[in-house]
Amino acid sequence: MKVGTPQFTFLCELLRKKTGVVIDISKEYLVVARLMPIVRQRAIPSLDTLIDRIRKGVDPTLERDVLSAMMTHETSFFRDKSPFETLRQKLLPELIERRAVQRQLTIWSAACSTGQEPYSIAILLNEHFRDLLGSWQVRILATDFSETVLTQAREGVFNNLETARGMPPELLQRYFRPLQGKWSISQDCRRLVEFRSLNLNATWPMMPPCDIIFLRNVMIYFDVATRAALIKKMRTVLRPDGALFLGGAESLIGTDTGYDRLAGVGCSYYRPKPH
Ligand SMILES: C[S@@+](CC[C@H](N)C(=O)[O-])C[C@H]1O[C@@H](n2cnc3c(N)ncnc32)[C@H](O)[C@@H]1O
Repeated sequence: MKVGTPQFTFLCELLRKKTGVVIDISKEYLVVARLMPIVRQRAIPSLDTLIDRIRKGVDPTLERDVLSAMMTHETSFFRDKSPFETLRQKLLPELIERRAVQRQLTIWSAACSTGQEPYSIAILLNEHFRDLLGSWQVRILATDFSETVLTQAREGVFNNLETARGMPPELLQRYFRPLQGKWSISQDCRRLVEFRSLNLNATWPMMPPCDIIFLRNVMIYFDVATRAALIKKMRTVLRPDGALFLGGAESLIGTDTGYDRLAGVGCSYYRPKPH
């Protein structure tokens, strides 16, 4: 099935306006492939009919599902490894010293997709900072635009292909139990993570001050203006001595000068410049 050029342009523009995600006009085939399951599931006669319904704006759930299907949700456990090593070897030990009185830690996974990123952090905390979990208030907030990925993330159940991507076998044995041919994450990890729907490109609900923010592999899909606005807004929730992680292919070059780039363990992270 194909989609007419005006309809395709309309969809791309809607996606950009609502979420900041930019899709290249040459990616029409990709969008069609991603939308066809929605057409089939809802027994809609054609792709054009689906787009017409969105144009009429009468079904916000359909619009959200379509925009979400147009996005890339690619993720894996312990993706890129080095941000997690930086947490383990450097940032968490430092924060534990600095927050010894408050005994509170908040980590935000700001585009968490199907949950591999926040659950990797939860596993790391259980594996290396178990004492902390008993006596501190530790919270991992995990948000995404897409309800589809959040539903899977909340279930915390992953197939063999998903666990094979990044989950060391000994951690798989320790933090998952087999469930109908898949793997279900343990309660110790699940209870640390709170999943919420949040559009990074819209007004945010009340956010707690965050010690660590993972904003990885999402800005790569935004245009420069959206990136700049988002990075500025991140400063309103990131504590002055906190840390912001971006994806391996992302940087703040050309977007903002309000952060210092610091060396982690095999990667960089960002901290708000002192006023
Ligand atoms: C490629 S995944 C990255 C997942 C994870 N952070 C990682 O690095 O593996 C990008 C995620 O960003 C989400 N996303 C895209 N635009 C968004 C927006 N405006 N607000 C919130 N989430 C968004 C998508 O739904 C998708 O799940």
